[in-house]
Amino acid sequence: MEDAGRSARKVEAQVAEAVAAVRARAPQAAPRVGLVLGSGLGAFAERVEQATRIDYAELPGFPEPGVAGHAGRLLLGSVGGTEVAVMQGRAHYYESGRADAMKVAVRTLAGIGCDILVLTNAAGSLVEWAPPGAVMLVSDHINFTGVSPLFSEVGDARFVDMVGAYDKELRKNLKQDAVRCGLELPEGVYMWCAGPNFETPAEVRAAKVLGADAVGMSTVPEVILARHAGLRVAALSIITNLAAGISETPLSHAQTMEVAAAASDRVQGLLERFLANLSEGKH
Ligand code: HPA
Repeated sequence: MEDAGRSARKVEAQVAEAVAAVRARAPQAAPRVGLVLGSGLGAFAERVEQATRIDYAELPGFPEPGVAGHAGRLLLGSVGGTEVAVMQGRAHYYESGRADAMKVAVRTLAGIGCDILVLTNAAGSLVEWAPPGAVMLVSDHINFTGVSPLFSEVGDARFVDMVGAYDKELRKNLKQDAVRCGLELPEGVYMWCAGPNFETPAEVRAAKVLGADAVGMSTVPEVILARHAGLRVAALSIITNLAAGISETPLSHAQTMEVAAAASDRVQGLLERFLANLSEGKH
């Protein structure tokens, strides 16, 4: 195992290099909001105005794109008048077995000035009020993996308070914006499951007993990293299916991509309105 001190110094160096690379490529950029686009939401990148596109390959420590539907690009530009840094593609725990795969990326977003992080994902639903095609605002999470992206961190800051991790004010703003968009936006608890296999029906029953409303394979490590870095966080789940054992339909990544793409326009509209209201000082 890598020595904790050495790996911390490596992360710090990669963040510094990535921040410098972004500043060199987009010297005027002063992003306020970071966004991570999950499955099916990649098209939001087209809404970024005056975008500078930087391949992750140019940013040390950024994820290597692996999963179909995830590009590997950071975009700097603006949406609705708010300056943003958009991650088109994320790393998942299941790709490498490393829960900290997004550590450099999240810290880089903080390093270039973001103080809000909005995460999106695809998820399976456990509840009838969030059927496939619905969009759920994450109110809290359950970490079902037993790992943390902060393993091997040192110092008192690693003991991150997770109360209010999904920022109350941002949630209120997003709910108001959803009403204006004519979009239903129920709130629910997201459970992080390791993947890449889907859950078993017994795991889904357990998830329900434990208090989850949806299950998915991402987002939670980024939320923990973002809270550690002092960012305010919001997360949206596109419900792409009923979780294992709830319906007869076999689960597949193809279905995830198809349903997420169908809901994508509504989520993009919501994000655009949220960013416009932010720039106009309405949030
Ligand atoms: N489980 C886990 N992750 C998912 C699911 C699911 O049912 N659907 C989309 N992502």
